[in-house]
Amino acid sequence: MKRLGRAVRGLLGMLGGFSLLSGSWTASYFILKALFKRFGSPSSDYVSQLLGVLLGFMLLFCIGGIISLITYGRQNKFYSPILNAVRRISKGDFTAKVEDVKRYGRMGELVEGINEMASELSRMETMRQDFISNVSHEIQSPLTSIRGFARALRAEDLSRETREHYLDIIEGESTRLSGLSDSLLKLSVLESGSFPFEAKPYRLDRQLRNILLACEPQWMGKGIEVEAELAEMTVTGAEDLLSQVWNNLLHNSIKFTPPGGTITITARPMDTEVEVRVSDTGTGISKEDLPHIFERFYKADKARSAGAGGSGLGLSLVKKIIDLHRGKVSAQSSPGEGTVFVVALPVSLKEGSE
Ligand SMILES: Nc1ncnc2c1ncn2[C@@H]1O[C@H](COP(=O)(O)OP(=O)(O)OP(=O)(O)O)[C@@H](O)[C@H]1O
Ligand SMILES: [Mg+2]
Repeated sequence: MKRLGRAVRGLLGMLGGFSLLSGSWTASYFILKALFKRFGSPSSDYVSQLLGVLLGFMLLFCIGGIISLITYGRQNKFYSPILNAVRRISKGDFTAKVEDVKRYGRMGELVEGINEMASELSRMETMRQDFISNVSHEIQSPLTSIRGFARALRAEDLSRETREHYLDIIEGESTRLSGLSDSLLKLSVLESGSFPFEAKPYRLDRQLRNILLACEPQWMGKGIEVEAELAEMTVTGAEDLLSQVWNNLLHNSIKFTPPGGTITITARPMDTEVEVRVSDTGTGISKEDLPHIFERFYKADKARSAGAGGSGLGLSLVKKIIDLHRGKVSAQSSPGEGTVFVVALPVSLKEGSE
């Protein structure tokens, strides 16, 4: 249908050109005829033919000029909204939009593309601003607390315990700051795609067991019981990156599970993937918060998470790393009862996949 329209338009254009040409030549013929009648015709046929051709061309250019002058205004009116929008976008105003896309006919797709580009850029700009305000907030709050406690430490009549307590807080907040900068750096490196991703086959069950052992002081210290069911299996992946995944999930479970709770880690092979489950009997996550927990800086219970020293970046790192491995991560939770994180990883990454 579109092709037919285009062919018809081409044919009409050609007809227009021919009529313009024959029109100017006919006009030239009649003008010269009238002039010759009035002033007498030239002696040579060649001269009268030459005059006819020259006048024909002159008329053709004049008519062409007049037509383009008339249509210039219309063309300008047609293109100026597009040009205006592009200029505004180039200056950083992403609210620019070309209205009434339908009137642009064949160029409609291009105009829609410009509108889509503007809304995508605007979304990214909002994300950038949110990101900056989140980072500043996350940096500001531990700094405020460090400053406050450092000032309080100046008082001479403090007991030894209070002093120790203040120092503990300062230490904790500095650790939180350094964890924040570490996570930010990792996220930005992973997102830039410049991370050297080296996937090798390794024993996943051994890795999980080692991480559990390394975290023993934390879960033992909190009186949490840990159960592990780890089938012997090999996966292909970036060992150090995946180690961060298990560490983040396990630390979350420890952080959000009260003393006396249980954390269970199971790893089992499926058909073409392996499934790792980290479940706990902790605080759980509400239905409203659950869809957002993998977003950067998202903390389900702001007050408690801040108290627990988190910055809300752990799970976004987990998601990023699992995505890099072409795997899936999801969470199920019932508030007050506990949470289960399920990670499915393909057993082998295809050649060249990153
Ligand atoms: N096992 C869990 N039980 C209950 N809530 C959880 C659990 N894991 C994550 N959450 C919720 O999801 C939020 C996001 O987790 P995430 O690991 O991204 O951040 P964080 O632990 O607060 O900070 P960070 O990991 O950067 O130190 C947490 O703040 C918490 O509210
Ligand atoms: Mg975390």
